[in-house]
Amino acid sequence: MKPTHLFITTVIAMIIAACSPKVSPPAAPDVPAKEDPIEAKVEALLRKMTLEEKIGQMNQYSGFWEATGPAPKGGNQERQYDQLRNGLVGSMLNVNGAAATREVQKIVMENSRLKIPLLIGYDVIHGYKTMFPIPLGETASWDLNLMEQTARIAATEAAAGGVHWTFAPMVDISRDARWGRIMEGAGEDTYLGSLVAAARVKGFQGSDLSANNTVAACAKHFAAYGFAESGRDYNTVDISEHTLHNIILPPFKAAADAGAATFMNSFNEIGGLPSSGSALLQRDILKKDWNFDGFVVSDWGSIGEMVGHGFAADTSDAARIAALAGSDMDMESRAYIVHLANWVKNKTVPEAYVDDAVRRILRIKFRLGLFDDPYRYCDEEREKRITLSPAFMDVARDAGRKSIVLLKNEGNLLPLKTEAKRIAVIGPLAADKDAPLGNWRAQGMANSAVSLLEGVQAAAGPNTEILYAQGAALSVGLRTFLLPTTINTSDKSGFAEALAAARKAEVVVLAIGEDCWQSGEGRSVANLELSGLQMELFNEIYRINKNVVVVLMNGRPLAIQELAGKAPAIVEAWHLGSQAGHAIADVLFGKYNPSGKLPVSFPRVTGQVPIYYNYKSTGRSYPSKPNEVTWSHHNDVPNSPLFPFGFGLSYTTFSYSDIALSAKEMTAAAPLQVSVTVTNSGKAAGTETVQLYVQDLVGSVTRPVKELKGFQKITLAPGESKKVTFTITAKDLEFYTAARKWEAERGAFKVFVGTNSAEVKEAGFVLK
Ligand code: NOJ
Repeated sequence: MKPTHLFITTVIAMIIAACSPKVSPPAAPDVPAKEDPIEAKVEALLRKMTLEEKIGQMNQYSGFWEATGPAPKGGNQERQYDQLRNGLVGSMLNVNGAAATREVQKIVMENSRLKIPLLIGYDVIHGYKTMFPIPLGETASWDLNLMEQTARIAATEAAAGGVHWTFAPMVDISRDARWGRIMEGAGEDTYLGSLVAAARVKGFQGSDLSANNTVAACAKHFAAYGFAESGRDYNTVDISEHTLHNIILPPFKAAADAGAATFMNSFNEIGGLPSSGSALLQRDILKKDWNFDGFVVSDWGSIGEMVGHGFAADTSDAARIAALAGSDMDMESRAYIVHLANWVKNKTVPEAYVDDAVRRILRIKFRLGLFDDPYRYCDEEREKRITLSPAFMDVARDAGRKSIVLLKNEGNLLPLKTEAKRIAVIGPLAADKDAPLGNWRAQGMANSAVSLLEGVQAAAGPNTEILYAQGAALSVGLRTFLLPTTINTSDKSGFAEALAAARKAEVVVLAIGEDCWQSGEGRSVANLELSGLQMELFNEIYRINKNVVVVLMNGRPLAIQELAGKAPAIVEAWHLGSQAGHAIADVLFGKYNPSGKLPVSFPRVTGQVPIYYNYKSTGRSYPSKPNEVTWSHHNDVPNSPLFPFGFGLSYTTFSYSDIALSAKEMTAAAPLQVSVTVTNSGKAAGTETVQLYVQDLVGSVTRPVKELKGFQKITLAPGESKKVTFTITAKDLEFYTAARKWEAERGAFKVFVGTNSAEVKEAGFVLK
């Protein structure tokens, strides 16, 4: 840059700085508790550090051998080595394996003045080498212990590979299946999402962060990343303060309360304020109101991207804004390392802000035990011994089958009869050993999943012949994290073989849906219908053989109205991970009775999204007479989803009694008991997730028509009944009110209990 340009941009930045709204000062630096030896060590170390070394701790680079984002400008391997040697890098991401992480740690430990160990971060989202179901799918299990356990295993494997810190869990609520990253979260519901967030944090971190088989968690993306307009990744978010507090923030709060060591901010702006520049989110809400003492890492380049947002004049200005706003670590913007010292030296950014950030970062490094032994996590022998262990694979299989949701089963086509003579396994995903691993598969080895075909072959009886035909490939060309997926829309050369197989078989298992690279980061879509030739393939097969069991593999809800109208059986199998094929076969052959429930609504057509069960009532929610037009609806499709939140069938049936309440009124001191008796009215033993919802009928701000407030999983033998009781306390009825605080408002409520968000029993009570 020419000196004149530099001068002009600096002046512009200073003017903007002067005009920017005042941000609150950093949460008062925590006074080191005398009895906490870590705080004393942090303070002692901080005192020894130069400004440059402090800013170095706030600087994070990606390893040179893998990238999970666009290459940053000015990235230079030699310069990065120099900075590592000089203690100017606090953390690296995407350095993989015990050997490589040891190497990079050595550069710092053997050369830098203060020998502050590097923090090694990585996206360990649903497994490290042993892959578990994608988070959205796993949430369908509604099994919090299971989710804690899979996160625990992921941490164990990752930690053995030198990872200290995972960028997970993603706790973004999303109501928009067009958003590719919906696969990475817990779906649309705040209550469920909060419980899942806490379970995953506990799983990753265990009870001792310094143990060599736990990793620091990172709740992301703070905040509202899942509310991007039109579901387009990285897009603008414009939501109300009430949506932010009532819908989006609670899972983050739950993660913080569960002890999440770190948070990651988000790419998006909210109402004009990019998250990396939001003191409201990072300082006021997170660090002050929630007492969070860990640190906030930016998302990849999100500090520098404030220039693109039109919120910062240049990268230097972005560094100033982000540091003031409480973004503690800069992932790949190179904004802090290049510019922050100038802002501190000219007193625009008080050094106390830098100290606050560094203190937070060092605190986590101490808690991880890195100062005791910076190499404790890089253990090649342990890495070899424990990764991909059979015990982990068993959990992956169990997690897989518990995540499956049975969407349709007309005429009890399922479970498949083990004595069937011929089963045709068809479809672009039937023999695919890669797609089931899902996006964000860390070190999951390409093509390492058990395919559906392999699962069916292993599970079928000795006298059953398994026919296989692909029918049509779903995509063409290379399939990887960074390349767009090209859908096959023309090559039908495999149709004939598929139809021949379908003709010969008693039943067809048709595996369709999405490739793993059709969902995930940067994989938003405008059409949720089955892509490419898949619907055509289904129709051709269905013409020949009506006994089609569709196995859907996908990272998001799909709009499958036509398919659901025809196919007698549909099994939602997400991307289930390493053991996918066995898990699905367990369900297809009835070895496991499906128990999953949707954590997200499935629309009939794309135009319905955002669609979610806890919508608001309007002034015109129903027609007042037949054929009325002037009410809130689409003229071409019902308001309801194709499959509602909480929906999932079983090979048995459950019947619900009416609701019994302990009283008609409750108070803060006297909670309410809500009971139903659930009976297994079918012929197989089965597990049901009994769901409790409430509706606050009148609020100081309008309230949703229903909100999940509890659930219980029960297993019943055929004919068995069980009384299920929930307790509702005043705390459960709190929300962020017009008074801008969390409180329960007195008045009338409805309570619902049922098998999904749409099929419920109903009663009423009053909060006095
Ligand atoms: C960008 C993604 O948004 C974030 O979730 C991820 O952790 C980073 N890249 C690092 O890979």
